[in-house]
Amino acid sequence: MMHPYRSVLYIPAARERALEKARDLAADAIIFDLEDAVAPEEKLRARDLLDAVLRRADYGARARIVRVNGLGTPWVEGDLAAFGAHPGVDAVLLPKVNGPADLDAVAGRVQAPLWAMMETAKGCLNAGAIAAHPRLEGMVMGTNDLAKELGARHRADRLPLLAALGACVLAARAEGRVIVDGVFNAFKDEAGLRAECEQGRDMGFDGKTLIHPAQLDIANEVFAPSEEEVALARRMIAAHAEARARGEGVAVLDGRIVENLHVASAEALIARAEAIAAQSIAAAAE
Ligand code: COA
Ligand code: MG
Repeated sequence: MMHPYRSVLYIPAARERALEKARDLAADAIIFDLEDAVAPEEKLRARDLLDAVLRRADYGARARIVRVNGLGTPWVEGDLAAFGAHPGVDAVLLPKVNGPADLDAVAGRVQAPLWAMMETAKGCLNAGAIAAHPRLEGMVMGTNDLAKELGARHRADRLPLLAALGACVLAARAEGRVIVDGVFNAFKDEAGLRAECEQGRDMGFDGKTLIHPAQLDIANEVFAPSEEEVALARRMIAAHAEARARGEGVAVLDGRIVENLHVASAEALIARAEAIAAQSIAAAAE
């Protein structure tokens, strides 16, 4: 069954209390961060702490993703040695991926699937080739780094970032990869977070990266199909089956046509709702 990625929570690997707390949080996935959320003087301690925590702690159904330091930094080799083949790691996320060669540079030292931060102009222009890398499983928008590199302003409608966001969604969908939207920095602004989650959902993102536990509920809600959507999907499937039984290819439901492609979307929506329900049951059973 597919894994949901509605809520993907960053945790700085140096923060032991936050690492422990995350075992009870309703996140679909966790990004354990060794990169920008960890100060240079903390890098080695954070690596050792995370290694120990991931060996011991049970994160249940939550996907465990480790964000290593970037290529060209003094820490990336040690990070890959520690987490490239680690029993507690489900994926390794590489920052500032500019092209498929960057993934090639680490692929030999990582057993887990690779994820790529999409946060440079070059990387977004090469999104198709990055998504097509055979080891790649998922992509994460790094909207703060991207805005910085573009010289773009932060706006509520994210108009300056839409070209890059759209290019990366296209690339991920062309190759069947997971794609998760960037963070919303103002973690006390619930209305702003909700609006940005809805925008990302409407564009096709699987979920949103988050920086604070207070953001989890909104992302989980916005990126899950609603009960109404699931009910409509079931009615569409039934209406189409009835039309087929009459020897017709197109059904009409609530004044709208229902064709094969709508049935496929309806089935995908129900599969997503079932995967989310399974994740919630697994979390509740812990
Ligand atoms: N994951 C898990 N738990 C977290 C958390 C996170 N990202 N952020 C905060 N918490 C926990 C705290 O440990 C605290 O738990 P406690 O009450 O049991 O001690 C609780 O949530 C409330 O935290 P709060 O006091 O509101 O926040 P803070 O001031 O401790 O931290 C931030 C605020 C923004 C510094 C912190 O949320 C953070 O570091 N976020 C991640 C940043 C990051 O990873 N950036 C890189 C990618 S953009
Ligand atoms: Mg970044």
